[in-house]
Amino acid sequence: MDITVLDIGTSSVKTLIAAIDENGGINVSGFANAKNQGMAKSRIVDIDLTISAIKESVQSAEIMAGKKAENIFVSIGGSDTIGIASKGIIATKRAGGEITAEDVVRVIAQAKVVLTIDSNILHVIPKEFTVDDQTNIKNPVGLLGSKLSAETMVIAVQNILIQNINNAVERSGFKPSELISQHVAAYTSTLDREEMDLGVALIDIGGGSTKISVFNDDALRFIDTIDVAGDYITKDISIGLRLTRNDSESIKLKYGSCLKELVSSEETFTAPGLNDRESRTISTAELFEIVAPRVDEIIELASKSIEKSGLFHKLNAGIVLTGGTANLKGIKERFERKTNVPVKIGTPQRLSGITDNLNNPSFAVSVGMLLYAADLFRQSGAPRTGGKISLDGSVSRFLNFFKDMFKL
Ligand SMILES: Nc1ncnc2c1ncn2[C@@H]1O[C@H](COP(=O)(O)OP(=O)(O)OP(=O)(O)O)[C@@H](O)[C@H]1O
Ligand SMILES: [Mg+2]
Repeated sequence: MDITVLDIGTSSVKTLIAAIDENGGINVSGFANAKNQGMAKSRIVDIDLTISAIKESVQSAEIMAGKKAENIFVSIGGSDTIGIASKGIIATKRAGGEITAEDVVRVIAQAKVVLTIDSNILHVIPKEFTVDDQTNIKNPVGLLGSKLSAETMVIAVQNILIQNINNAVERSGFKPSELISQHVAAYTSTLDREEMDLGVALIDIGGGSTKISVFNDDALRFIDTIDVAGDYITKDISIGLRLTRNDSESIKLKYGSCLKELVSSEETFTAPGLNDRESRTISTAELFEIVAPRVDEIIELASKSIEKSGLFHKLNAGIVLTGGTANLKGIKERFERKTNVPVKIGTPQRLSGITDNLNNPSFAVSVGMLLYAADLFRQSGAPRTGGKISLDGSVSRFLNFFKDMFKL
């Protein structure tokens, strides 16, 4: 089955077209990355410009893949994404007998919280299960028990945001099949189970927003979003050096650094003048003085957010940075110095037979969406016989989706 993932980001819309085989194997045949000028802080502010970016991105990926985009999974993010702890309890189907995957799907579905009227649940992610009085169980399938409870993290997004994204995709001429949270997609491609178990914070620093997910004891414990990211650095370069946004962006990519040791005191670059003014020579040291404080602000806000989770002292596997801004020179070291925690750059993993171009932190969400869809598909083949339990609340919708596709 072919699926398409659409990561609608503030800086760019990324599209991947891939075939998923019945074992969940993935083969990417097309990808594209189209600049998006219709969003700010991960929200749509100009629907027409967002539609142009979506069209351009999907059409380029279609040409590369030589096929039409279908079964479209769309990412959703921004500070309107919330994570709420919740709990579900059920009596198992066969009291005292073996717990089945169906029981697990039921208890997770039960763990949905009552939300304010204007939000919609995207995922219900299990943290741990309790079977009768036995707590801290990661996979209850096959255990004997009469009562099953699940502690979960519910991820929900404001309806208005969902409607805007749906609208933009539909008006671009495509039909969205499923929505996936950018938080969930980003950690799916960049973290492994061991890191999640030890304790880790994933920080996805994109263009418009910074998404934070904190794990401990093999479970997602906390999510948060900060409304500052790479665009904030670009905007400050533009103000500080009196340059257009476009020129500031390319100068940031080429000469930007947030580590003093990487900045030579002699190096300079030529900056084009604004509106036919004369071009100027600027030193990279001057650029550093603008970039570094903005990065420090992002680090401070991200640290405060992680502190809110109460798990800062439990980040035994440190911090993983992803998103396009994780490419900024010196960002790993600056984060390490400011937080005193080991930092790694998270490039998307777990994908084989893929072009090198996706091997970049800015593709963490889109690659994660593919992996997520493939994982669900792998599970959907045998939902009643157990298997890996990383099912979430959207599982029944997904299962139906895949069943329809494959007439299972
Ligand atoms: N080499 C680099 N140095 C510095 N910044 C970079 C580099 N490469 C990309 N970026 C920045 O990364 C940001 C884009 O990242 P990404 O593609 O992850 O964002 P997005 O997903 O479109 O936005 P968001 O998730 O915030 O809505 C831009 O601000 C861009 O300037
Ligand atoms: Mg993004």
